Amino acid sequence: MRRKNVMNGSVPIARVAPAIWLLIVALSLPFRAAGDPPGEIAERIDALRAQIAHHDELYFKKAAPEISDYAYDQLKRELAVLERDHPELAAGRGDAAIGDDRSGRFATYPHRQRMLSLAKSYTETELRAFAARVSRQLSRKDVAYVVEPKFDGLAISVTYQNGRLTRAVTRGNGDEGDDVTANVMTIRGLPRQLRSTSPEGGSNPIPDLIELRGEIYVGYAEFNRINREREASGATLFANPRNLAAGTLQQVDPAVTAARRLEIVFYGHGACEPALTCPGSQLDLLRRLRAWGLPTVGNPRRVTDADGMWQAVREVGQERGHYAFPTDGAVVKVDDAAAQRELGETRNAPLWAMAFKFAPDEVETRLRAIDWQVGRTGVLTPVAELDPVQLGGSTVSRASLHNAREVVRRDVRLGDYVMVEKAGEIVPAITGIDLKRRSPASTRYVLPTTCPECGTALRPLADGTASLLCANQDCPAQVRRRLAHFVSADAMNISGLGAASIDKLVKAGLVRTPADLFHLRRSGLLQSGVASETTADHVLKEIEHSKRAELWRVIYGLGIPRVGATTAHVLALRLNSLEDLARWEGRQRGFGTAVPAADLAPDAVAALDEYLRSPSHRAQVLALAELGIGRTESGRATAGPRKLAGKVFVLTGALPHFTRSEATEKIEQAGGRVATAVSRQTDYVVFGDGSGSKLDAARKIGVAEIDEAGLLRLLAGE
Ligand code: IVH
Repeated sequence: MRRKNVMNGSVPIARVAPAIWLLIVALSLPFRAAGDPPGEIAERIDALRAQIAHHDELYFKKAAPEISDYAYDQLKRELAVLERDHPELAAGRGDAAIGDDRSGRFATYPHRQRMLSLAKSYTETELRAFAARVSRQLSRKDVAYVVEPKFDGLAISVTYQNGRLTRAVTRGNGDEGDDVTANVMTIRGLPRQLRSTSPEGGSNPIPDLIELRGEIYVGYAEFNRINREREASGATLFANPRNLAAGTLQQVDPAVTAARRLEIVFYGHGACEPALTCPGSQLDLLRRLRAWGLPTVGNPRRVTDADGMWQAVREVGQERGHYAFPTDGAVVKVDDAAAQRELGETRNAPLWAMAFKFAPDEVETRLRAIDWQVGRTGVLTPVAELDPVQLGGSTVSRASLHNAREVVRRDVRLGDYVMVEKAGEIVPAITGIDLKRRSPASTRYVLPTTCPECGTALRPLADGTASLLCANQDCPAQVRRRLAHFVSADAMNISGLGAASIDKLVKAGLVRTPADLFHLRRSGLLQSGVASETTADHVLKEIEHSKRAELWRVIYGLGIPRVGATTAHVLALRLNSLEDLARWEGRQRGFGTAVPAADLAPDAVAALDEYLRSPSHRAQVLALAELGIGRTESGRATAGPRKLAGKVFVLTGALPHFTRSEATEKIEQAGGRVATAVSRQTDYVVFGDGSGSKLDAARKIGVAEIDEAGLLRLLAGE
């Protein structure tokens, strides 16, 4: 067990209180363990602990979970009940409820006040039992509660001392967590300094010290953006926004964190001094957080009894489909701070709050077939074809099976009954197989050996991901997908043409390469059925207009593996044209002096090497160049005085006014270059709040240190 009980001294409430909430949680549980012989129970407890530890490891350390959060919660719940009924088996096994998100990659830092989790409920009965217990304990019926959405991200504690942000620490084991201050500082909208007067007027005293508790998350729009970009560059996708948030927060280089839009919301507090300045209720806390200038819960509902509470929880459940952030439940909190204190807490959770977790939209259906889709780069993706079922308000007949390795590892077979889950806006995925319903006659699924589109023999992908690859670049599926990517909104943004139009144009033999699009005529559009008499001119105009797209869009649109939008931006900033792109000088030199290979990620270098070594690819790039595409000024280093020409910068810590990408853009526009590590080639280290080892490294070799103001002076030519 990796959870250690590191708290010194006594934990008196912990001995009694868990029994209370476990009793409540257990009210509606089937007592599967009641009649089981003790040996079997001990085995089951061991198995559950091992499984939970395994999933914790995947979740916290590798950010790559295998099971849904709901399935994970069910494991923890079963363990909690068994341990409650068999304390002799639980004794000395440490504290299983709170988890441990320490990654081992950061220094740890202690919380002043233990950072708690929440007790969870799954049914109306459990939630009403919570209200009944609260009323009993407070000896009154009319208890006011606040109901909030439960944000699905990572718990964080941010300390403000005299109004100034001093530290950000993950929950860890509750007593100490990872010190992720530098990463948290990159979050936009998180003020370093609290405002003392509220916008509505009136004072809003700032405590000398307050540990604010909240959640770091990634919104759906950003999640989709990053996954689209990863898909385009052939990287593995994040399973859900929470993995993405976890993976981002755990980055040791804050520059990576800054390139992704993390968000933060506050909903609670830990230590707060002096008491006089601390909020008198949950609603008061939320109001003050807003007045201090902090992001907080948008639409808290205050209710005055159990019926109102249940109604509010159901409303959150109905609304959550429209939230821009991921939620997996609602949180109910006793409003009044004095009542909260009276109710107290266990070692793991306050006794005045309760989470209600919504069951994911999950259904069981039958797997009919596996359809292998050939992507733009030739990688085959398995898609499950299912008996259509209703799920989360729509009919689902296809679901993701991720990749060939997953199909083999999970031993999924045709005819199996599978669980399909849909979370938020995310594509439905298969989360389990109902082995009890498997036909005894079923046989292992045999992976395809030839491309379903062109019949070429498949080979495993060289990157060790055990994906299957169709290496025929003329495979019609690849041709169609590459073109669909080229015209897509993120690339050339030719709005008159979608994937279906591209299919028709390719089938009609009118288009094979991107340049062919620009030779299309009215007659071709009409004959292929892509446009009508009335729409043809519009489509042609759109195509013509796209010739002025910025260079990065064209480079990105080429669909070079591993060259996502970010790398395309980097290239476009320093290359002048597509002709420059065709002048690739190989793995060692990159684009000569304009973009040395060392400035690019190694996998992008390898991919560019492979792509541009092919004469047909170079011909395609040059054919676009001849049409005058990629020549606009925008999106690349502008002319004018290039004050920082040749200078190399390293950014560290968070700057007061600029995000890292904004600072990078400014430096590059002025002709400078931003490197990620300090070396003797570095001219300046630009430091901000929370800068660490890079500044130390700079001091050791005597590199000039400047702050944001210094950078602005350089940019202004002073
Ligand atoms: S209150 C003492 N409110 O859910 C206060 N937690 O599964 C404890 N969470 O650890 C937390 N949204 O990370 C609270 N509106 C909300 C929340 C929330 C998400 C998280 C938090 C907590 C976890 C429990």
